[in-house]
Amino acid sequence: MNRMKHETLLSYLFLLLISCCFFVSHSLNSSSTTSLGPFPCLPSQSSALLQLKQESAFSHAKILENWIHTTDCCSWDGVTCNAKNGQVVGLDLRRSGIHGPLSPNSSLFNLLHLERLNLAYNNFSFSAIPSTSGKLSRLSHLDLSYSVFSGKVPPEIARLTELVSLDLSSYRDDSHPVTVDMTRLVQNLTKLRVLRLDQVTSISSSIHKSLVNLSSLTSLSLRGSYLDGEFPDYIFNLPKIEAINMSWSYSFPTGLGFLPEFQSGSNLKSLDISSNYDLSGKLPDSIGNLKSLIVLNLGHCNLSGTIPSSISNLSQLERLDLSLNSFEGPLPSNLGNLKKLTVLYLSGNKIQGDLPHLLRNLTQLEELDLSFCKFNSQILNFVTNLVKLKNLLLHYGSFIGQIPSSLGNLTRLEELDLSDNSFSGQVPMSIGHLTSLKQLDLSDNSFSGQIPSSLVNLM
Ligand SMILES: *[C@@H]1O[C@H](CO)[C@@H](O)[C@H](O)[C@H]1NC(C)=O
Ligand SMILES: *[C@@H]1O[C@H](CO)[C@@H](O)[C@H](O)[C@H]1NC(C)=O
Ligand SMILES: *[C@@H]1O[C@H](CO)[C@@H](O)[C@H](O)[C@H]1NC(C)=O
Ligand SMILES: *[C@@H]1O[C@H](CO)[C@@H](O)[C@H](O)[C@H]1NC(C)=O
Ligand SMILES: *[C@@H]1O[C@H](CO)[C@@H](O)[C@H](O)[C@H]1NC(C)=O
Ligand SMILES: *[C@@H]1O[C@H](CO)[C@@H](O)[C@H](O)[C@H]1NC(C)=O
Ligand SMILES: *[C@@H]1O[C@H](CO)[C@@H](O)[C@H](O)[C@H]1NC(C)=O
Ligand SMILES: *[C@@H]1O[C@H](CO)[C@@H](O)[C@H](O)[C@H]1NC(C)=O
Ligand SMILES: *[C@@H]1O[C@H](CO)[C@@H](O)[C@H](O)[C@H]1NC(C)=O
Ligand SMILES: *[C@@H]1O[C@H](CO)[C@@H](O)[C@H](O)[C@H]1NC(C)=O
Repeated sequence: MNRMKHETLLSYLFLLLISCCFFVSHSLNSSSTTSLGPFPCLPSQSSALLQLKQESAFSHAKILENWIHTTDCCSWDGVTCNAKNGQVVGLDLRRSGIHGPLSPNSSLFNLLHLERLNLAYNNFSFSAIPSTSGKLSRLSHLDLSYSVFSGKVPPEIARLTELVSLDLSSYRDDSHPVTVDMTRLVQNLTKLRVLRLDQVTSISSSIHKSLVNLSSLTSLSLRGSYLDGEFPDYIFNLPKIEAINMSWSYSFPTGLGFLPEFQSGSNLKSLDISSNYDLSGKLPDSIGNLKSLIVLNLGHCNLSGTIPSSISNLSQLERLDLSLNSFEGPLPSNLGNLKKLTVLYLSGNKIQGDLPHLLRNLTQLEELDLSFCKFNSQILNFVTNLVKLKNLLLHYGSFIGQIPSSLGNLTRLEELDLSDNSFSGQVPMSIGHLTSLKQLDLSDNSFSGQIPSSLVNLM
């Protein structure tokens, strides 16, 4: 009796132990499905996506091959769900071979919880952006770039008030210039931070002027777009702007004209206005106001006059490209203040004076291009400090004298072009230390003596 009681107690304890373990493991598992595990795709979302797959434009897209009704749509390629409720919040179908018009009643526009939609680099066969896009009112990121849309941008885009990033690059409007009612559009897009309108056929001045009301904009890209009217200097007054790319932004019929005055207090970190051949006149002194600049690219424009000394106030500058302009006269004597410069391109200008000496302190330089410049005759002694150089391009210059043997200390050099100068004397043996070199051109100089045997090190 006593013993039986004891056994009962033991088995009771055993049961207790088991149920306890079961409880622990069960609770672990249930907690992992309710709060940690993802919620599976909702049937409504899955059927909208399967319907999309049937639409003719989408039916040949390879990325949709694993969209099969027996599996959770949240696991399908290109699909992102909200793990808490199984709603589709992201669709990334860029470069997926979609080909054909996008219908206004495409089931795409039934995915009402979409926050990110990327259809870039497909071919919608010149169809218009459907006005039903305005239904996707939760969109924060919309990328329709390089996907062969044309016609008018529907005003319903202005309903997308959550948009943070909008890319309509390469968008074609049959009316020249593009007549989308940007004024209405921008009044609503108060959260927009990134706007890309690259390679848009042409943008009328009334439209680009309204960009000034995009008060949250941090990045604006208009590269390769024709801008109608005068230089859009108001974009520099956008309160939060940090990056502007206007390279190749020809404007017609008058040309971009002249650079504006730059106000102080700007947060601009990157400014690229390169390859606008009709941008003429001087680089204003007020460039020194853009104190946050890290990248300044004015290469391949038609700028002239001297380079203003205020440029040496841009102490954060890491990349400076002024190549292929008509700058003349001496460089600012305090250029050595730009201590963070890693890239300096001054080629193809009429700069004179004692340039190399000014560069001696720019010890972070990795790329230096002074080709096609006619300074006063210079000897090549300034580069010894520039131990981080990877590219040193001095061709078609006015360098004289011997190549210093200290050049062999620049062991990171990958490209060295000293051709078409007046170097003389022996090519130093130390050049054989430059084991990273991929390109070396010493032609058209007045060297004498023998080719150093150390050059075989470089083969
Ligand atoms: C939790 O449940 C899954 C099936 O949904 C199962 O594979 C797994 O083994 C369970 N984990 C535990 C700890 O019971
Ligand atoms: C759009 O829907 C209507 C009916 O709702 C249908 O008749 C039409 O064919 C659809 N158009 C396209 C392009 O799918
Ligand atoms: C897009 O497709 C149309 C025909 O639907 C074709 O004429 C056009 O060349 C294609 N464009 C691109 C960039 O593939
Ligand atoms: C701005 O957005 C609101 C609601 O988000 C909408 O009712 C209004 O029509 C939009 N404005 C324009 C010009 O589309
Ligand atoms: C900017 O917005 C203000 C107020 O909403 C409006 O009066 C002005 O016309 C707008 N400017 C442009 C260029 O759209
Ligand atoms: C501006 O766009 C051009 C292409 O047109 C690109 O090469 C360049 O890197 C961009 N500039 C910056 C600063 O990103
Ligand atoms: C370039 O600038 C010069 C003046 O410096 C001017 O005469 C010439 O017309 C400009 N070229 C272009 C293409 O705008
Ligand atoms: C550049 O900085 C100096 C002092 O650091 C100042 O006197 C000068 O006005 C500044 N120039 C510009 C254009 O900001
Ligand atoms: C280089 O830096 C040194 C010390 O910082 C300074 O004395 C000298 O003037 C600078 N040289 C040039 C050319 O900027
Ligand atoms: C640089 O090169 C010269 C001559 O080749 C040598 O005497 C000198 O020690 C080198 N300096 C450094 C810092 O390596």
